[in-house]
Amino acid sequence: MLDLHSHIVPEIDDGSVSLEVTKDMLINAYNEGTRCICATSHYISGDFQIQKEIYDEKFLSVSKLGEEIGIQVVKGLEVYLTPNLLELYKEGKIWCINEKNYMLIELPMREIPLYTEDVLYNLRLCGVTPIIAHPERNFKIANNLDVLKDLLEQGNLAQINAGSLTGLYGSAIKETALKLVEKNMIHFIGSDAHNNGNRDTSISSGINQIKKINQDLFLWIVDNEEKILSGEGVYPLEIKNEKKKGFLSRLFKK
Ligand SMILES: [Fe+2]
Repeated sequence: MLDLHSHIVPEIDDGSVSLEVTKDMLINAYNEGTRCICATSHYISGDFQIQKEIYDEKFLSVSKLGEEIGIQVVKGLEVYLTPNLLELYKEGKIWCINEKNYMLIELPMREIPLYTEDVLYNLRLCGVTPIIAHPERNFKIANNLDVLKDLLEQGNLAQINAGSLTGLYGSAIKETALKLVEKNMIHFIGSDAHNNGNRDTSISSGINQIKKINQDLFLWIVDNEEKILSGEGVYPLEIKNEKKKGFLSRLFKK
């Protein structure tokens, strides 16, 4: 399986604190059935801007460790949504998964900024497909799934955190995560691992949840993860709408 989201590169963000920890994270990932992991370090324009050269150098050691353990490690970033993403991309300051054309983008937790659709649209015009990181953790989306539905129908994709499906972030986020899986509203799974403790690289329980709830979606994920790495286009499953209640059930509703 592919783990699309991890902070496995050491000493670069709030993720792994050393190459030793990275090694433990990779071993755990291997034991969890992960065979490819994206090293998606945080990038926050104006606040936390990783230099490409420093990332590349650290990535190399992680990639070598991965090879020894049996996991392919690919480049990536978790880019925080700001209005200037297209400029940053054109300037080579931010990059996509495996340096192809899918970009993991983090929305603010409490809101959907007014410029969200425009920024994502402009990236798509430039051939970059945004993947929204853990939408189940965004308050606006949790309160109204149509907010995410609109973004997906515009051509964006979404990645769910495995931990959201197992209750790591609480029951409310778990409930939202399960609904997103039921409705085909996510396309990839990631550990969002930050360490080898409470935020580790485990994804198998989350994957099993997806398999149990929505077998078609599980098969879609397996079929399409390779395409993200090679930059090929994907064709998401149709979003399932709320089942409309029949006249009789509405009439006899308690
Ligand atoms: Fe993350």
